[in-house]
Amino acid sequence: MNVQIALKDRSYDVVLGQGVRHGVLEFIRRARPRTKTVVVVTSTSLRRQAWFDFVDDGLSVLEVPEGEAAKNFSALEALCENLADLRLSRDDVILSVGGGAITDMAGFGAAVYLRGIDVVHVATSLVGQVDAAIGGKTAINLAAGKNLVGAFHQPLGVFCDFETLESLPERERLSGMGEIAKCWLLEQRDVSDLDTTSLFELIEMSVRLKAAIVASDELENGRRALLNYGHTLAHAIEALALQRDTDELRHGEAVGIGLAYAARLAYALGRVDADAIVAHDTVLDQLGLHRSVPDDLDTMDIVRAMGHDKKAHHDLTFVLAGQGGFEVVPGVDPETVVRVLESFRGEA
Ligand SMILES: NC(=O)c1ccc[n+]([C@@H]2O[C@H](COP(=O)([O-])OP(=O)(O)OC[C@H]3O[C@@H](n4cnc5c(N)ncnc54)[C@H](O)[C@@H]3O)[C@@H](O)[C@H]2O)c1
Repeated sequence: MNVQIALKDRSYDVVLGQGVRHGVLEFIRRARPRTKTVVVVTSTSLRRQAWFDFVDDGLSVLEVPEGEAAKNFSALEALCENLADLRLSRDDVILSVGGGAITDMAGFGAAVYLRGIDVVHVATSLVGQVDAAIGGKTAINLAAGKNLVGAFHQPLGVFCDFETLESLPERERLSGMGEIAKCWLLEQRDVSDLDTTSLFELIEMSVRLKAAIVASDELENGRRALLNYGHTLAHAIEALALQRDTDELRHGEAVGIGLAYAARLAYALGRVDADAIVAHDTVLDQLGLHRSVPDDLDTMDIVRAMGHDKKAHHDLTFVLAGQGGFEVVPGVDPETVVRVLESFRGEA
C-alpha cells in the first residue's frame, strides 16, 4: 500500500507492507535511471539482521554508530568523507536503512553533501515508520540539545517494511507506541476501536495523518506543530534523563507521559472535560504505555526545561485539546503548569 506525501514536484510515496524492502532497489532504478551508485547507510547491528537480505552484495555499505551516537558532527563528517571517497555524484542515491537516528543523520548527510543528493529511507523501527522517516526533517544533535542542527530535505521515497519490526526490541516497539498514541488522540478516534485495530492499521493511520499534515505545512509554520502533541513535557524529561545519563527514557515513552499531562493541563485550563483525561489514559493503557514522570526529576527543573524547548519560543507553549480541536497554545501560566504537574506526579 502506498501513501502519498503530496508536495508538488517533491511529492513521494511511503510504501507500507510485508516485504516491501525487496522493491526498493528497483524503485531507485526506475525513479533515477541515471544513478550509477547506491550507497547504503546503516549500522553494524542492523546489517546483521536477517531482513538485510534485500541489499545486493555489489552495493557499498557504510556503517555509522548505533542510535543517537550517529547524530553528531564527527559521525556526519566521517560519512561525508566516505561518500566523497566513493565519488558519489549528484546523480547517485543514499539508501538509509535504520531507525529514526539513522534516517535523521543520513537524511542530513544527503541534504548537505554536494549541497543535496537524493535519499531513500528504509525505516526499520516503529518510530521511524510512523514518524521519523517521513516529512523531510533531518538533523543531528549538539551538546546543547537534540536536533539543533538540521535541514528540511524530502526523500525520494520511504519504505516501511513490517517484517523488519520482527527483530525490534520490545522497548523500541513501545517507544513507537507513544507516537501512535499521539496520532490516535489527534485523530480523535474512539478508544473502543483500539482493541480491534492491528499494529499495521495503526502504522497506516499514523502515516496517513503525518502525510496530510506535512502536505499542508511542509516547513512547520503552522499546522505541522500539532504533531508535537505531548512533546513539550516529553522533550523536557527526555533531555533531563539524558543529562543524568542513566537509563535513557525512550522518546515515545516520554511522549506517552507528555500526552497524559497535556490532557490534565487542558482540563485545568477549562478546555476539555474530565472524560478527555479518561480517554487519554485508556489509550495509553491499551498501548502498554506508562504515565509516570521519573521520580528523581525535580518538578522545577522540568518546568525550566519546558521553557527551553526549541519549539517553545521561550515561554510555556503546549499543543492542547479544546472545544474546536487541537491547537498550539503559547504563554500558558507557569503556576498552572507547576500545579498540574505536581498533582499529576502525585497520582502515581
Ligand atoms: N525527523 C523526524 O521527523 C523525527 C521524528 C521523530 C523522531 N526522530 C528522531 O528519531 C530518533 C529516534 O528514532 P528511533 O526510536 O527509531 O531510535 P533509533 O534509530 O536510535 O533506534 C533505536 C534502536 O533500535 C535499533 N533498531 C532499529 N530498527 C531495528 C530493527 N528492525 N531490529 C532491531 N533493532 C532495530 C537501532 O539500532 C537502535 O539501537 C531520535 O533521534 C529522534 O530525534 C525524528
